[in-house]
Amino acid sequence: MAERLHVVLAGAGIASRREAEKLIREGRVKVNGKVVRRLGTQVVCGQDAIRVDNRPVRGSEPKVTIVLNKPKRVLTTSRDPRGRPTTAGLVNKIKTRLFPVGRLDYHTEGLLILTNDGELGHQLQHPRYGISKTYRAKVKGLPAREALGRLRSGIVLDGRRTAPAQVRIAGTTGTNTWLEITIREGRNRQVRRMCAVVGHSVMKLKRIRYGPIRLGNLNPGSYRTLTAREMKELRKCVNEGTLG
Ligand code: URA
Repeated sequence: MAERLHVVLAGAGIASRREAEKLIREGRVKVNGKVVRRLGTQVVCGQDAIRVDNRPVRGSEPKVTIVLNKPKRVLTTSRDPRGRPTTAGLVNKIKTRLFPVGRLDYHTEGLLILTNDGELGHQLQHPRYGISKTYRAKVKGLPAREALGRLRSGIVLDGRRTAPAQVRIAGTTGTNTWLEITIREGRNRQVRRMCAVVGHSVMKLKRIRYGPIRLGNLNPGSYRTLTAREMKELRKCVNEGTLG
């Protein structure tokens, strides 16, 4: 819905309506990168990027949600004091602050969603919705039927049993096995620890699906914006509480 710029600024708590008009007249307000001095200017929140003194007005930035193929040896964070590569560094061409939806370990690669839509990001991570995540794990040896059964029915980690998981053998490579594991939780290093408990340490780990979103053939280090259809499906997971 289009609204007048000074009303939006006042609504965002920047200033009173009268003071907001003054900010506009003084040339301190930008809409989509251009200084705007006309008082009746109409804007749409969430579509038009509004800045005052070059600082973004909260809630006014267009919503951006992307999927990144996080490479191995990249931290899921915005900055690392030790100077290691970060996911924020990989997406720094996007001029809005993106937050990761959950995290992948330093050595884990694959699908990571990043968004500046704080509410969506928060909801997607909420245990209430139990969004499913699918991983390909290359483990040492060939897990016996009993080990697969334990992974499926739950493993006690930190004194609490993991929720039921879907586990299947996706392939074997001589002495190792590729497992496909789908979990609905997001505990710290969950897949690695589950596999270690049944005696099959993880050598490689890649996330290939997050709810309705698939990694597809995105190269490591590349990202893409989610399609309108994917956004709709993602929102459905949290709006209707359906399981992804
Ligand atoms: N499980 C893990 O062990 N590591 C990840 O990065 C994600 C899930």
